[in-house]
Amino acid sequence: MAGFVVNNYGSFPVVFVSGKGSTLTDRDGKSYIDFVAGIGVNCLGHGHPALVKAVQDQAQRALHVSNYYLSDRGLAFAEALLKATGMERVYFCNSGAEANEAAIKLARKYGWLASGSPAGTAQRHVIVTLEKSFHGRTIATLRATGQEVFHAPAFAPYPEGFRHIRAGDFGCLSTAFDDTVAALMIECVQGEGGVNPVDPAWVRAAAEAARNAGALVIADEVQTGMGRTGALLASESWGIEPDVVTLAKAIAGGIPAGACAFRGKARDVFVSGDHQSTFAGNPLVCACGLVVLQELTRPGFLSGVTQKGDAIKKTIASWNLPFIANIRGAGLMLGMDLVPDAMKSPKNARDVQTLCLNAGLCISTAGENTLRFLPPLVITGQEIDRGLAIFKTVLESL
Ligand SMILES: Cc1ncc(COP(=O)(O)O)c(C=O)c1O
Repeated sequence: MAGFVVNNYGSFPVVFVSGKGSTLTDRDGKSYIDFVAGIGVNCLGHGHPALVKAVQDQAQRALHVSNYYLSDRGLAFAEALLKATGMERVYFCNSGAEANEAAIKLARKYGWLASGSPAGTAQRHVIVTLEKSFHGRTIATLRATGQEVFHAPAFAPYPEGFRHIRAGDFGCLSTAFDDTVAALMIECVQGEGGVNPVDPAWVRAAAEAARNAGALVIADEVQTGMGRTGALLASESWGIEPDVVTLAKAIAGGIPAGACAFRGKARDVFVSGDHQSTFAGNPLVCACGLVVLQELTRPGFLSGVTQKGDAIKKTIASWNLPFIANIRGAGLMLGMDLVPDAMKSPKNARDVQTLCLNAGLCISTAGENTLRFLPPLVITGQEIDRGLAIFKTVLESL
């Protein structure tokens, strides 16, 4: 790809051609256990028969019809998603950043209405997010992201009206939410920021503070959603009832898609013309989304996700390696810190990721010294064992 595609990703020079279950194969025929799942996208793994069939069937029926009209798949998926999540309305889009942009726009309009629909900036317009959060790479979602590294001067100016608070800081809650705040936007487990599960008691207190101040609560479930943490939505198990939920990544099992779902006070804020997108929620996406929901809501599926995650954590902890610290996370969204100084020759997460790839294991990183595990939710015990065996061999060589 070098020379053809903008080198934005620093991609490894591995060219994948196919996959089955939780195994990928490159163009030289070498196979890899997939603990990345396209960064939490391929929840049903590769080549899942029901997903393949849905793509084939839908390609023969209609790939796209435009949002001038409704589609049977679009209506069916919207209904199923709302039923499964307890939300009341959905806006479909194409990615996580777009889902969050929609949520930010909705919150701003909510605040504008609450401020009496002024001609200029509404008094209630601030979006509160967390330090170490990640919400996307559009200009507004970069600004929402609570990490300085994402506010590079090269892309300035960024939009105003964002405030970052520290997860776990109960003290700041009394001052952070004043009558300028339109919404709190929160990840229950910060993914890109280092796989940091946020203390549920603090999440509930922050949501309550936001509500008491008249603001909306937005759960960014782009990474945590669709079963990743062992519940369909992480916000369910964290004990908050968000007014807005954003989803993407796994929502259609690998077909690019996102969603921003609303309820209660947020339900009717968007009206005709407020927000739109050409591809959003087309029949192909929605046919695949339906399959994902059907699989995820099968009895025992989500408890299986929790069991597999717990088993991975337990196995890694049992190795007792001095340079492994703090294995954490929920379901199959796990992080593990490396302590380079405790290694014979210090290596960071990217170095270990490279060694794993060479040895036939795809693994992700989340920061300088954090390895991240996001395997397909359908990964089998055998695939987990094979992946962990490769991982252990790599770690033992450090
Ligand atoms: C929590 C969260 N929000 C938003 C995004 C952005 O999603 P996308 O890359 O689909 O725009 C991500 C991507 O990693 C994410 O983890």
